[in-house]
Amino acid sequence: MRLFVTGSRGQLGRALERAAAAGGHEFVGRDLPELDITDAAAARGAVAEARPDAVINCAAYTAVDAAEADEARALAVNGTAVEYLAAAADSAGARLVQISTDFVFDGAAGRPYREDDPPHPLSAYGRTKLAGEGAAVAARRHLIVRTAWLFGDGANFVRAIRRQLDAGARTLRVVADQRGCPTYAEDLAGAVIALLAAGTEGTVHAVNAGSASWFELAAEIVRLLGAAAEVVPITTAEAARPAARPPFSVLDTSRLRAIAGADLPPWPQALARFLAADG
Ligand SMILES: NC(=O)c1ccc[n+]([C@@H]2O[C@H](COP(=O)([O-])OP(=O)(O)OC[C@H]3O[C@@H](n4cnc5c(N)ncnc54)[C@H](OP(=O)(O)O)[C@@H]3O)[C@@H](O)[C@H]2O)c1
Repeated sequence: MRLFVTGSRGQLGRALERAAAAGGHEFVGRDLPELDITDAAAARGAVAEARPDAVINCAAYTAVDAAEADEARALAVNGTAVEYLAAAADSAGARLVQISTDFVFDGAAGRPYREDDPPHPLSAYGRTKLAGEGAAVAARRHLIVRTAWLFGDGANFVRAIRRQLDAGARTLRVVADQRGCPTYAEDLAGAVIALLAAGTEGTVHAVNAGSASWFELAAEIVRLLGAAAEVVPITTAEAARPAARPPFSVLDTSRLRAIAGADLPPWPQALARFLAADG
C-alpha cells in the first residue's frame, strides 16, 4: 500500500513510518511546517500529488488542557481540517484513516466502551476530536481508529515521569482515579496497518491490552527502571487540571481482536519494550 501520513513527525506518525517500512509499504509523510492541514488547498494538493491508497491523519491539536482556552484553533485542526482530508481522499480514490480518542467518552459507563457506545466528551479536546470523527464519516471509505494514553517518540506521560526520575525526584504525586489503556505507538501503528490491509471500515478501538490508572502506570515505570522513588496517589480534584477527563475510558477491543486475530500485547509488556528502546 501507498500511505500518505499527516502529522508524520508526531508519536504515531513516526511509528507508522517504521511499521510501513517493516511491512514493505510506501510511506509519504507530511507535517508542519511543510503541510498545515487547516489549509484546504494545500491538503488537497498534497494528497493529490501523493496518489495514496490511504490517507492516515495523525495530525492533531493534542494539548488537552490548552484546548480549553483555545477551542477554535483545536476545532480547526481536529475537526474542520478532517473535512478537507475527507474530500481530498475521495478525490484521490483513497481511504481516510482518522485517529481518534477515548476522550470522546465521559467515563460514566462503568464498563469498557464499545465502538457504538454514544460519545459524550467532557473537554474541548474531546469535542473537537468528536467533530473530526463526524467529518471523517463523510469520506466514501473511512476508518476511525480510537486509541488512548499514547507513549512513543514524542511528548508523553511515560517520558515525563522518566525525566522527573532522571532529575532525582524521590516523590511523584500521580492521579489514581482515572482509568484508561496505556498504548505504545509502535503497537498501534502495527494495528492501523493490519486494519488497512484487512480492508476494515467504520470505527475500531485499538489500545494495548489491560488497563491502568495514571498512578499504576507511574508505579510500573518506577519499578521497571528500578528507581528509588515513591509514587503517591492523588485525586483528579487535587491535580486541578483545566480540562475534565473521563474517570474511566477503558476501550473494548473485541472488534480489533476479531479482525486481527489477537489483542495488542498487554500494556506492561509494551511499556517495558518502550523503556528499553527509549533509554
Ligand atoms: N497522545 C495521546 O495520548 C493520544 C491519545 C488518544 C488519541 N490520540 C490521537 O492520536 C493521534 C496521534 O497522536 P500523537 O500522540 O502522535 O500526536 P503528536 O505527537 O502530538 O503529533 C501530532 C503531530 O501533528 C502535527 N500537527 C499539529 N497541527 C498540525 C496541522 N495544523 N497541520 C499538520 N500537522 C499538524 C504536530 O506538529 P507540532 O508538534 O509542530 O504541533 C505533530 O507533529 C492524534 O489524532 C491524537 O488526537 C493521542
